[in-house]
Amino acid sequence: MPVQHSKASLHAFYADALRNGQSTGEKLRAPVPARFLTLLASLPADIPRRALDLGYGAGAYTIALAEAGFTVVAVDQAPAEPLLHRLSEYEDLAERVTVVESLIEQYPIREDFGAIVAKDVLHYLSQHDVEVLLAQAVQSSRSVNLHYLEVFTAISRTDAHGVQIHIEGEARYTPESFSRALERIYEGWDVTVRWDNHTEQDARSRRTYFEATRATVTAARRCPAPVGSAAMNGRKAA
Ligand SMILES: C[S@@+](CC[C@H](N)C(=O)[O-])C[C@H]1O[C@@H](n2cnc3c(N)ncnc32)[C@H](O)[C@@H]1O
Repeated sequence: MPVQHSKASLHAFYADALRNGQSTGEKLRAPVPARFLTLLASLPADIPRRALDLGYGAGAYTIALAEAGFTVVAVDQAPAEPLLHRLSEYEDLAERVTVVESLIEQYPIREDFGAIVAKDVLHYLSQHDVEVLLAQAVQSSRSVNLHYLEVFTAISRTDAHGVQIHIEGEARYTPESFSRALERIYEGWDVTVRWDNHTEQDARSRRTYFEATRATVTAARRCPAPVGSAAMNGRKAA
């Protein structure tokens, strides 16, 4: 019988870790991987330079987006101060980032963001909230857009006694149910999904407490490219 942890305790866990500058099993303070920087560098010149980072954590993706020339709206339920403090250490970055303290599921996406990032966070929302949120983002899309999502599916999370832990209201997608949701939401977009097995171990005991199949999604809106520009849908420049 799984043990249920409350959403409030999950939110407090991250708020405390971020306030105290601690890393977590997800290595919140690690820099973004090179493949994400390569993806940013490959975006077409005409993409709107506005980005949304959902569940920014310690802000690694927010900072990478701002350094790539985006103005960024960074949303997390955790207090804004740790990210504001981190941004103040970079010349000129703070003015390009708006930090919003909010639940993602209560943040209305009404803007044509060129890039939306949601890394290691959507699995905490209900399936309904994930799908409403992404559908809203698709509906607000007017131009060349990229959505970059890393979402855990088929999660197994155990305590020291091997008892399964569930988090109140979490999506609990399987790879199949998440794939079906993507098909429904991103109709007409170019979607690629990379699947890999992800595990996290306790630093001291080396016990594996988290296992999941991670989906890394890049969804690019097909858009008629202006003459002379390379389109994200793979068409050659005119
Ligand atoms: C695993 S961390 C990911 C951080 C960051 N995206 C990264 O990969 O470096 C999850 C983050 O999502 C936030 N979070 C979890 N559920 C949330 C919700 N419903 N609304 C807003 N933020 C949430 C947590 O506060 C935490 O900062």
